[in-house]
Amino acid sequence: MTPSRRDFLRTLSTASALAAAGGVQTVMGNVPTSVGAPAYIPNLMRVSPNDKIRIATIGMGIQGNYDTMAALRNPDVELVAVADLYDGRLEHAKTAYGKDKDLFATRDFREVLARPDVDAVLVVTPDHWHDHITIAALQAGKHVYCEKPMVQHINEGKPVIDAWKKSGKTMQVGSQRISSSAFQEAKRMVQAGDIGQINYIESNNDRFNAIGAWNYSIPPDASLTTLDWDRFLGDAPKRPFDAKRFFRWRNYKDYGTGVAGDLFIHLITGVHFVTNAMGPTRIFSSGNLAYWKDGRDVPDIMTSVMDYPKTADHEAFQMVLRVNFANAGKISNVTRIIGNEGQIEFSEDNLILTKHKLPVAPGYNGYDSYFTFTEPVKEEFKKQYDAQYPPETRTVEPVKEVRFNAPKGEDPHSLHFADFFKNVRAGSQGTIEDPVFGFRAAAPVLASNQSYFEQKVVHWNPETMTMKTGETRVAATPKKKK
Ligand SMILES: NC(=O)c1ccc[n+]([C@@H]2O[C@H](COP(=O)([O-])OP(=O)(O)OC[C@H]3O[C@@H](n4cnc5c(N)ncnc54)[C@H](O)[C@@H]3O)[C@@H](O)[C@H]2O)c1
Repeated sequence: MTPSRRDFLRTLSTASALAAAGGVQTVMGNVPTSVGAPAYIPNLMRVSPNDKIRIATIGMGIQGNYDTMAALRNPDVELVAVADLYDGRLEHAKTAYGKDKDLFATRDFREVLARPDVDAVLVVTPDHWHDHITIAALQAGKHVYCEKPMVQHINEGKPVIDAWKKSGKTMQVGSQRISSSAFQEAKRMVQAGDIGQINYIESNNDRFNAIGAWNYSIPPDASLTTLDWDRFLGDAPKRPFDAKRFFRWRNYKDYGTGVAGDLFIHLITGVHFVTNAMGPTRIFSSGNLAYWKDGRDVPDIMTSVMDYPKTADHEAFQMVLRVNFANAGKISNVTRIIGNEGQIEFSEDNLILTKHKLPVAPGYNGYDSYFTFTEPVKEEFKKQYDAQYPPETRTVEPVKEVRFNAPKGEDPHSLHFADFFKNVRAGSQGTIEDPVFGFRAAAPVLASNQSYFEQKVVHWNPETMTMKTGETRVAATPKKKK
């Protein structure tokens, strides 16, 4: 992050906190805040087990609507406010969610944070706004549900974690799939040792269509009058209005996090949940912009290789992740967790466990050197083999498949919110995907981008959540030896 971006962040966080502080003081009387130090404002509106939790969504685009609907499928949750930068989406939100009440709608998220009737906010903006709004919301005394990836850059992770710890509020990051029963079941299987020691994980998420490649529809009334372009840019470089950048922000690294932040993040979150892994130590990516040459500055094909070290929870394993937005061939997206006694393969919300154990006896003959021996040597070999490998060492259970199908109608998205709301009501800071977990999943995907753009292997310490020095550069063309 450049100094000017850091200054912007600081100014904004303080401004937001103060704006929020002003709101709380005006409405509720006397909540003193000391100017200069970051203010953490207790949200004095109590959420008791019988009270409704009042939420506000900041960013009412595609996922903002899906998140809001998933949150509202939980009992005793009410939407009281929304913020968005495009007027059309504010209007849409008022019609969709405010039929029977006056839904507060604003372009300025700080007005939402200043409202004492908001208990929790959903941060569903483009990635470059996640940390700013999350920190301001926690400082304003709100519980936070923040979309994935939790932050856009690695150096933004710790400030979010610090703000969460100081705030005493509940925070959940939004990779909702880990709340599905398939992931719970996979975790149970792995922890029970059903596939032995994990040694390799592979996952791909290919697509071949314009919308899948993030070219979402642009409303024809998009203009400097109908949306707040300057606020959208935030700490990103200033540039003239461009509706494509506003509505297709994932295509630009100033606002998004590429295929890694958009898609690898779900895969890594799932793997960390199932294996209790904290993260890789070495990350390397390569890729290319192969097909969608529409002005975007992020690759549409990317493969990342990550080395996970041995920990108390698992052996060392390698993980290989791939996205190909130009796969005109047969697309078969799958995640496989492979161990030395079997594998778990995910497909949609279901999984298949295949158990495959090797016998102790190695066997002989077939495609083997045995047939090249002389007859007396074969005889001697056989004698020694029979002595070393009694019959019980020669057989194992046959390969076995166990299928797990998620219960019909299961709704992991609303279950993910249920976990958040349960912890809000219990006054617990922890969630299934708290900011420490969220950052440990986000950092490797952000490191994947760093590896791709800077052509280097990135070294990461998942335990301390810090970058390791001594990064090795991967030269585009090998250097000649002198
Ligand atoms: N968990 C999932 O499965 C999932 C799926 C899709 C998207 N997401 C995440 O959700 C987030 C939003 O993605 P999307 O597809 O909904 O994008 P989108 O472009 O459809 O919507 C983003 C909205 O945020 C608004 N916005 C931008 N800056 C803002 C600000 N400072 N204050 C208030 N509003 C602001 C924009 O006006 C826009 O309407 C991203 O972080 C994305 O990674 C998660």
